[in-house]
Amino acid sequence: MPQPEKYAIADLHLNHENSIQLCSRPFINKEEMDAVILEGINKTVQPRDTLYLLGDNFFSNEKETGRNYLETAKFYRKQIKCRNVHLVRGNHDKKSADYLFSSSQDFLKIKDNHQKYIMCHRPFLCWDSSHSGSYHIHGHTHAGINWYVERFLKECRLLDVGVDNIYLLKGEFRPLHFSEIDEILSKRLGFCPDIKDTHHLLSV
Ligand SMILES: [Fe+2]
Repeated sequence: MPQPEKYAIADLHLNHENSIQLCSRPFINKEEMDAVILEGINKTVQPRDTLYLLGDNFFSNEKETGRNYLETAKFYRKQIKCRNVHLVRGNHDKKSADYLFSSSQDFLKIKDNHQKYIMCHRPFLCWDSSHSGSYHIHGHTHAGINWYVERFLKECRLLDVGVDNIYLLKGEFRPLHFSEIDEILSKRLGFCPDIKDTHHLLSV
């Protein structure tokens, strides 16, 4: 039996009509957006794989849908077929829905293939072991951080895994496999402003 694979995604903003315009998403309405994003997740991530969901999953919009926050959380969670979904909460996620996930937290660090991954919804400039090669994946910026990284943090090992940035990178609304994250970040030397007189990683 194949080993479970690891994937990450953030900022789905399901049921959030304004995100179409705000994030220049190519959808006619939120129903189409929801269907494409959920299909992208389910065709990529198998039920026994592991998915890291880095926050801002949906808007409840109770007046229109008649579903409160928790009902909305259940509505969308059951449409993701992956059983092992770990939530790193975003600014739109409430703790009342924590129990729907395999784990829920504001911050998470894991190791995969001897590589450390530090996860948070909002991006950091320094993070655990950033001076020795760890990766930081985040959401929240909807690809808006890219120009800043390109200009000032080119060798920094952080990546926006929000669905809008993934669409820019891959042309698809679906999670990134950890090997795809590694392919991007392993090419960067690293940047460690927390170490005096050292701007680049040399110890990786
Ligand atoms: Fe956010």
